[in-house]
Amino acid sequence: MCGIVGYVGARPALGIVLDGLRRLEYRGYDSAGVAIVCDDELRTEKRAGKLANLEKALGDERFGSTRAVDQAAASPPAIGIGDGTAGIGHTRWATHGGPTDRNAHPHLSRDGRVAIIHNGIIENFAKLVAELEADGVEFVSDTDTECVAHLLAAALADLRDAGEPDGPQLLAAAMRRVCQRLEGAFTLLAVDAGIPGAVVGARRNSPLVVGRGPGEHYLASDVSAFIEHTRDAVELGQDQVVLITADSIEITDFSGAPALGRDFHIDWDASAAEKSGYDYFMLKEIAEQPQAVADTLLGRLTESGEIMLDEVRLTDQDLRDVDKVFIVACGTAYHSGMVAKYAIEHWTRIPCEVELASEFRYRDPVLDRSTLVVAISQSGETMDTLMALRHAKEQKARVLAICNTNGSTIPRESDAVLYTHGGPEIAVASTKAFLTQLVACYLIGLHLAQVRGIKYADEVAAVVSQLQEMPDKLRRVLDAMEPVRELARDLSTANQVLFIGRHVGYPVALEGALKLKELAYMHAEGFAAGELKHGPIALIDLGTPVVCVVPSPAGRGMLHDKVVSNIQEVRARGARTVVIAEEGDLAVAPYADDLIYVPRTPTLLAPLLTTVPLQVLACEIAAARGHDVDQPRNLAKSVTVE
Ligand code: M6R
Repeated sequence: MCGIVGYVGARPALGIVLDGLRRLEYRGYDSAGVAIVCDDELRTEKRAGKLANLEKALGDERFGSTRAVDQAAASPPAIGIGDGTAGIGHTRWATHGGPTDRNAHPHLSRDGRVAIIHNGIIENFAKLVAELEADGVEFVSDTDTECVAHLLAAALADLRDAGEPDGPQLLAAAMRRVCQRLEGAFTLLAVDAGIPGAVVGARRNSPLVVGRGPGEHYLASDVSAFIEHTRDAVELGQDQVVLITADSIEITDFSGAPALGRDFHIDWDASAAEKSGYDYFMLKEIAEQPQAVADTLLGRLTESGEIMLDEVRLTDQDLRDVDKVFIVACGTAYHSGMVAKYAIEHWTRIPCEVELASEFRYRDPVLDRSTLVVAISQSGETMDTLMALRHAKEQKARVLAICNTNGSTIPRESDAVLYTHGGPEIAVASTKAFLTQLVACYLIGLHLAQVRGIKYADEVAAVVSQLQEMPDKLRRVLDAMEPVRELARDLSTANQVLFIGRHVGYPVALEGALKLKELAYMHAEGFAAGELKHGPIALIDLGTPVVCVVPSPAGRGMLHDKVVSNIQEVRARGARTVVIAEEGDLAVAPYADDLIYVPRTPTLLAPLLTTVPLQVLACEIAAARGHDVDQPRNLAKSVTVE
């Protein structure tokens, strides 16, 4: 949700923190703020709205001191906010308290000496606030975070009173003391004006990574914040406190016992997190899909035709024992799981259910050691998915994660991981993550089928080779998108758009509708094509656009013919039909007002192609309606609250 960044080193912190926030802004953009330690003072600035508002408020100061230093003056002026070499910054997705200047982070202690930023929710904040108010603290914001600033200042004062030596260790000790009182999910970063050259961080159920540089260190919600400075990172474990200075990283648990993080190297560079000439990150990420799919397939097949998972703490026997698969995920990842259900059941004959992660644990699903739960998440931090995963583990089920983010919580807590090598996805609307999740799901389905002896190595290799043709087919789809862009301009004034599909075309229809809702703020719904006549067909009015995802006629002919009938049904009621079909499918042409062909491909793999025109359609309609494509209203990229 919120993005947080901290820096300590020899360089001015403000520019580095602002650059980091720019890369993290996709996580939330309701407000932004910074606190920089300057000599013995804290300098802070925060503003509601996007980062640009904060930068405007900082004016030229963000480029460093513009004042001439008069060497002869008795007391040289204090250094400005642009000169301090330790600081923290925050970009917010509001949970407690509206998106105002007042509620923006950092939050300060009463004396203005301690600044804190926070991602997550402090669930026991009401009790803590009441306690602090009884001690005379007056709150200046409506957030759950502010209480942490006051608690931290009080802990520092207590430790100082108890004779503890001042310095970075004191800041870490105070943070540990505060964390022991907090319930809920939090990543916290703090600085103290009296302890220059140190930033302390803490995490529980919310992400925090450390960046290692020569004579400087970083803390951030994710590595994109510091990728232009270093690709060496440390992933923190649950309930850990980390203290960074220019020369050291010290990690402990909340009780103060030394702890270890996990070192890792980031295998992409800063250019992957830039727009590279595209108007929007989303367009760039759509264009990257052939490569993302190719990279996710790369090196997955051993010489004997086995699929290789990245981290496996499951034996082949564990996989042979599986008698039921549950897929848990949210949003777009859930749609990839819906496609996976068709493939996994078809290839393995194991029953497979797909569940919205946010509902999973509340309905008490029947799980045991022979249940395989597949958790799909681009970010690896989605709280609903994480909680579903934990519930599954409590019931002794095995958990396999499909994730795009190395160092994130979901893969760390899973028994096995298959990483999607999609590179950073910055646009809030998921695109390449969806396609790479599909690839990962196919690989897992094939792996299960092979381990259980339902498919031979050569049969697996045949599907993998069809998958390997996908990058080229995707390039062809992308090269033919001009008519879709034109269509988007035409549809941008529609009141609603409906999407229909059958079999794997149904999740594609849902995904097309989700994209349009989140980007264009239009009424859009996806339906199983056969369900339309049970109610939703009443929505169709003269000219209502209905996007129809048609299965291959070369697959199951009956499936294809049924969808063609459904197209005729909506057309007969006045719909404008936008048909996505396979090249050579002439049967649909008479019923299509707009016809978009994609290359021929096996039925189960078709979503890898048919989704792409729907992504482009949503992106272009949103742009035509004047919306911010990369940062749609009310949303954030990584949803770390339930
Ligand atoms: O990071 P995750 O894959 O767990 O995120 C899940 C959803 O929040 C995400 O797919 C969301 O639906 C996208 N914004 C849709 O484009």
